[in-house]
Amino acid sequence: MPQETLANLLTEDRTFPPAPEFTASANVTEAAYDEAAADRLAFWEQQARRLDWTKDWDSVLDWSNPPFAKWFTGGELNVAANCLDRHVDAGLGERVAIHFEGESGDGRAVTYAELLDEVKRAANTLTDLGVEAGDRVVIYMPMIPEAAVAMLACARIGAPHSVVFGGFSVEALASRIDDAGAKLVITADGGFRRGKPNALKPTVDAAAERCPGIEKVLVVRRTEQDVDWNERDLWWHETVGTASNEHAAQPFDAEHPLFILYTSGTTGKPKGILHTSGGYLTQTSYTHHAVFDLKPESDVYWCTADIGWVTGHSYIVYGPLSNGATQVMYEGTPDTPHKGRFWEIIDKYQVTSLYTAPTLIRTFMKWGDDIPAGYDLSSLRLLGSVGEPINPEAWIWYREHVGKGKAPIVDTWWQTETGAIMVSPLPGVTATKPGSAQRPLPGITVDVVDDEAKSVPNGGGGFLTIRDPWPSMLRTIWGDDQRFLDTYWSKFDGMYFAGDGAKRDDDGDLWLLGRVDDVMLVSGHNISTTEVESALVSHDSVAEAAVVGASDPVTGQGIVAFTILRGDIESSPEHLQELRQHVANTLGPIAKPRQIMVVAELPKTRSGKIMRRLLRDIAENREIGDVTTLADNTVMTRIKEGLSAAA
Ligand code: WT7
Repeated sequence: MPQETLANLLTEDRTFPPAPEFTASANVTEAAYDEAAADRLAFWEQQARRLDWTKDWDSVLDWSNPPFAKWFTGGELNVAANCLDRHVDAGLGERVAIHFEGESGDGRAVTYAELLDEVKRAANTLTDLGVEAGDRVVIYMPMIPEAAVAMLACARIGAPHSVVFGGFSVEALASRIDDAGAKLVITADGGFRRGKPNALKPTVDAAAERCPGIEKVLVVRRTEQDVDWNERDLWWHETVGTASNEHAAQPFDAEHPLFILYTSGTTGKPKGILHTSGGYLTQTSYTHHAVFDLKPESDVYWCTADIGWVTGHSYIVYGPLSNGATQVMYEGTPDTPHKGRFWEIIDKYQVTSLYTAPTLIRTFMKWGDDIPAGYDLSSLRLLGSVGEPINPEAWIWYREHVGKGKAPIVDTWWQTETGAIMVSPLPGVTATKPGSAQRPLPGITVDVVDDEAKSVPNGGGGFLTIRDPWPSMLRTIWGDDQRFLDTYWSKFDGMYFAGDGAKRDDDGDLWLLGRVDDVMLVSGHNISTTEVESALVSHDSVAEAAVVGASDPVTGQGIVAFTILRGDIESSPEHLQELRQHVANTLGPIAKPRQIMVVAELPKTRSGKIMRRLLRDIAENREIGDVTTLADNTVMTRIKEGLSAAA
């Protein structure tokens, strides 16, 4: 019998159809799938009409040189004008674009007219500083409205931005500045994090010393902490603050580069993912409208991601603003000054739509149900999840304790490379299923294939691939076309593959099973870490779990699990035995963990993904590997100490 590509162990019977009232007023209906299936390019052409184009396109898609796609060729638009000017021109200038909430509770509302004014002044400043269309600008900022202003000002003058997450080191910042060949950096003195000013400028100073290409550094004053001042530095308030607010947006080609965003990947030098203008804005705008069912007149939308990740690019800046949304932007952490901070913000602004990550949902579960119960969350009408597979029990917790059993949940699968959401329920159409991202969106063709690139039948598992080009796809890796071909297009002929395992259940719904690099090979079965983790989280006592395969003389690999318990639960040998048995009962004996350890925290990247590689080092009793991309690089020491204290 040939070895299965990826085992399908977990089954899920619970489904939650949308409420009839939700469906009745939903932005997108079942018909969208049929329209897209009948003529995919006509469907995307129709979505592109959501935007204002100064010149129409000649063809929807040029795929004459695959996998280098060109969408809406010959078309021209200005991305920033689509996010701002057209709303103000339509008389919506007084609508709040951003409710900014500082960590310490300071804040301000920025209207579309004010945002446009500031973007025009920033665009004039950049031009005065010698930035021209095509020049790269690096943005290294806290979560403040000026970060969005900086991005939009770059877009307005056709200067591709590269936002670097404000938690990254000198080394990471310098290598990105260097690779992008940027001449200007926009930063701030610092931002507020965990109740304290967190300096950013010293990191930029050190990086600029190593990057001779940097001519100027533009500095927003946020924390008012002392900063060293160099000849290349300029204050934002002295330049942007005094610049003219007259600026006519000039059109750019649909394929003009909009931004480069670096993904660290698992190995080697970071990849500069290149996104362009027309197709990217079409798909971010459409998906934000369709998946979040955005009603711009009445919704208050909040995406909790940082602007330094693609989620912040597509679903804080370009998607929502192109749709004229009102949104919340929060500077700080979820537990400062207290663990109810998120719920307090939802209550304060009457947030209707929340988009957050499974890692946070599991953290909230661990903190306890009573915390969200202390706030009025009745304004919420839609919940979203992104970044990792969401375990069915975390999904159920999110639905009950945050959505009060009524708000539909959209589990959205996509990547930095895909630019916009690819797989997700549609909230007015899909009967949702906890843990499944379910269906490709209209106009997107996703497949699950085996090692021989053949589609797996329902019930089978394999590799998630994308068969046809999509408008917001990455165009290349900045400066490295060959790496683009090798990384994404070489495993399967003519298909995009970016490393995720997936299965189709008996209804044909898609389940994401984690990175294929993490798959465990146990007695000849390929078992996904996600399924075992979800089985553990389905036990009442477990809030979070991370599973790795450790080499085993008998089975090839043995399953080793690290778990965080809920609330104040204490573990015992009997409890661990019960957990092992619970996994075996849920998934079958093949998936029974060899060992389960209780830990207080797990190693995560700054965007919240569990770093299983480091846990494998513990499970196999090795020296711990490179920890530089961890959010907190002391966590591995604490985990090791905690385990040896318990042993
Ligand atoms: C990887 C992409 C997409 C924006 C944030 C992350 C994982 C993302 C889901 C989901 C299961 C998911 C995948 C993907 N992922 N969303 N809903 N279900 N897995 O962007 O840093 O480029 O990471 O995140 O493994 O490949 P990214």
